[in-house]
Amino acid sequence: MRKVMLIDADGLERRLAGHLRRRELPDLFLYTGADGARQWLELDRCEAFDIASGLTDLLGRSAPRIAARAARGADLLSLGVGEGAKERILLEWLAPRGTRRYVAADVSEPLVDRALALVEDMDLERVGVVAGWEDLPRFRGHARPPALLCLLGNTLCNYDGDALLGMLASCMAEGDRLLVDCHLLPDGGARRRRWRRHVEAAYGGEANARFNLAPLLSRGMRPGQAEFAIDLQDADTPAGTALRTRKRIRFLDDVALTVAGGPVEFRAGETLAMGFTWKYRRRQLHDLLVRSGLAVETEFRGGCDEYTLLLAHRAPGA
Ligand SMILES: C[S@@+](CC[C@H](N)C(=O)[O-])C[C@H]1O[C@@H](n2cnc3c(N)ncnc32)[C@H](O)[C@@H]1O
Repeated sequence: MRKVMLIDADGLERRLAGHLRRRELPDLFLYTGADGARQWLELDRCEAFDIASGLTDLLGRSAPRIAARAARGADLLSLGVGEGAKERILLEWLAPRGTRRYVAADVSEPLVDRALALVEDMDLERVGVVAGWEDLPRFRGHARPPALLCLLGNTLCNYDGDALLGMLASCMAEGDRLLVDCHLLPDGGARRRRWRRHVEAAYGGEANARFNLAPLLSRGMRPGQAEFAIDLQDADTPAGTALRTRKRIRFLDDVALTVAGGPVEFRAGETLAMGFTWKYRRRQLHDLLVRSGLAVETEFRGGCDEYTLLLAHRAPGA
């Protein structure tokens, strides 16, 4: 087992202090450190937050067909691997077809460690990479082409999709495949209204509020000193209007945090800007892949078409 560290905990903490002083809390800091990793795993297992389990079920059902379409012996590289439960399922199907190397990359070191530990009983060369996705050009070489690259757990939707997929596509070689999943916005009025109520309840529930407030609670804020709010808003894409979550934290009290060994203070009434989750329609997601220079080979659908898994390669000439 090897571990490659492209970022370290102290550097991340200093970055977080800078963001908080600018009144922002980017989503990646929800997962970092032992507490962030634990909070994510709690949310991931929470029944009321069933978007995560819907995507895992789809992956489980599709894994044999995905493995059959990946190149024989392909190395597996997963970006934003989390605890690597989906990758474990894939590796059980890939290993009999010759896969021998697994590269688990994530910004959260405790999650990389868990992902590697989850497959320690398998006959695999394991490489952990602690890095941001923008570092992919620096660690892509650990997975030899043709490789299967994964971006799973709706992670694509937490970022500017053009920037993330464009960077991924530029790192793909001939024969490589990209596997990406997404929780979709359904077409159709009545279904859309039911979907919206369900999504608002999942994202607006207590479990997700706890997850989003945890970086502040673990750095000196007391429960009740801030509130978390989230709603869904229309947002433009080049392929028409989609939805996007808008989240923020509002301080109800004066709060003093300790971050990177120094104070960061907030006054009651101030707000923190946070990340978002895109909710694309199916054709908007396909359009995004094509714009990024990718060609979709196969689509696996689940949960009344709310969940999708796409297997893609770099489009010829892209
Ligand atoms: C929604 S979770 C999905 C985890 C896992 N893939 C799954 O399916 O359960 C997003 C994952 O991406 C990681 N992550 C978030 N921002 C990142 C970034 N900028 N670079 C690398 N990893 C990131 C988080 O630490 C987390 O493990």
